[in-house]
Amino acid sequence: MYKFKLTDMKRFLSLLLFSAILGNLYSQDLKSIMLNSPDKTRGLPVMQALAKRASATVFTGEKLKLQDLSDLLWAANGINRPELKKRTAPSAMNAQDIDIYVFMAEGVYLYNAAANLLDPVVAGDQRLLVAGRQAEVANASVFLVMVSDISRFPGSDEAMKLSLAAMDAGLVSQNISLFCAGTGLSTRPRATMDNVKIKEILKLKDSQHLMLNNPVSYPQK
Ligand SMILES: Cc1cc2nc3c(=O)[nH]c(=O)nc-3n(C[C@H](O)[C@H](O)[C@H](O)COP(=O)(O)O)c2cc1C
Repeated sequence: MYKFKLTDMKRFLSLLLFSAILGNLYSQDLKSIMLNSPDKTRGLPVMQALAKRASATVFTGEKLKLQDLSDLLWAANGINRPELKKRTAPSAMNAQDIDIYVFMAEGVYLYNAAANLLDPVVAGDQRLLVAGRQAEVANASVFLVMVSDISRFPGSDEAMKLSLAAMDAGLVSQNISLFCAGTGLSTRPRATMDNVKIKEILKLKDSQHLMLNNPVSYPQK
């Protein structure tokens, strides 16, 4: 029978220590961000926000305050009727197929609407990938990237699912545009992005499709 030796124990402990250090280093890169409750009293009345809605061409890099980021995400696709688990944006057949990936200087997060937090996905500044061939927008402090998981739709008609996904993404994007218009932030809906590389770094499944992105920032002074 194999006897456990002291050297084995040492090896095991140093391996444990090594992986703990590595794990710690990695998690130090990116931690979950607890979001604030949405401030539902802020912003312009809806007609004034509509009057101001326009796609910005200039974006600034100043980090969004936590309240602004929290309110932005809630307006985009947060839960507004917790008793029904329903969202600020409608979705075909209530599939809730749109996930929002949040690209910031420190890394990429996934908006977890149910827990009202940002889950870390990948560390490092990946905003250039979202800017794609329009590098001039890359310094926007945050990009909200809408991904549809079409496996959340019932049935087997893939073309129909992709069409519904595009509509659902457009609705989330319009929520972002109206929130920004109503609160003085700059945004622009964009289809341009480096789809192949983003799919790779986010480790998306075949059923997950990149739809649209909105850079968001404070306006230039
Ligand atoms: C589905 C969609 C995709 C778009 N893609 C891009 C894009 O890749 N790059 C860009 O600069 N603007 C993009 N736009 C923004 C449009 O160019 C802009 O909405 C249009 O010029 C009208 O301007 P307005 O939004 O200020 O009314 C897109 C808009 C939509 C609705």
